[in-house]
Amino acid sequence: MTDLLPGAALSARAVAKSFALEGGARVDVLRGIDIDVAPGEMVSIVGPSGSGKSTLLYCLAGLERADAGAITIGRERIDHASHARLARLRRDSIGFVFQSYNLIPSLNVQENVALPSRLARRRRPDTASALAAVGMTGHERKRPGALSGGQQQRVAIARVLAAEPPLVFADEPTGALDTAAGERVLDLLRQYAHGDRSVVLVTHDLDAAARADRTVVLRDGAVVEVLRRASAAQILAATQETAGSVPDRGAA
Ligand SMILES: Nc1ncnc2c1ncn2[C@@H]1O[C@H](COP(=O)(O)OP(=O)(O)O)[C@@H](O)[C@H]1O
Ligand SMILES: [Mg+2]
Repeated sequence: MTDLLPGAALSARAVAKSFALEGGARVDVLRGIDIDVAPGEMVSIVGPSGSGKSTLLYCLAGLERADAGAITIGRERIDHASHARLARLRRDSIGFVFQSYNLIPSLNVQENVALPSRLARRRRPDTASALAAVGMTGHERKRPGALSGGQQQRVAIARVLAAEPPLVFADEPTGALDTAAGERVLDLLRQYAHGDRSVVLVTHDLDAAARADRTVVLRDGAVVEVLRRASAAQILAATQETAGSVPDRGAA
């Protein structure tokens, strides 16, 4: 139930994940990741394309199972949780914002926003407040196909707001948006992270990453640096410093 996460927080240790390639070889996508997210914190994860950001987020959110490592959400270890337990965790405690919005095309805006809370059989969700918070009042009856990308992403965030999960994961949520729409989405995520609500944001946009309290720099499936309240310039420097230094890990 929703009492799962008193003071939502996430802690992961030595998370590893590999995928099988055609021909039987395996590629190590996550090579022993440690990451902590404190209650109220917004943590950004940056790294080049293919560095394992999405895979990490999926493992942390219980959408994908890690091969090894410990993942704790609240007080519960989830890395060996049953499928049923994970499904409940995702339903009750986790919100996920995808780059591709993932709204249900056949449902209107209001129905999309209400859906997770209805699935959780929770009290009637306050969809009006959630839509007002993202500036989408008046669009309740529209189908996602009638909205711009920026509007669809705001609806996807309203869906998370209405369900009020303690942990929100966002995977490149501004990747398909223009600058103004992206700013708005980032503002909403930034505001969400407070009290016992935390946000984990994957992005390759350094200005977006700089809005976080902490930034984890990933490279080739490993954490190469963790920065605190870093500027975009500092994050850029951290990603560049580590570029090309992969064979010589001792120097990083
Ligand atoms: N299901 C999969 N099967 C095989 N390889 C995968 C799978 N998912 C991701 N990968 C590989 O893992 C690496 C990291 O992918 P991903 O986590 O999507 O990185 P990022 O989000 O940082 O771009 C890439 O090389 C990608 O091709
Ligand atoms: Mg990705």
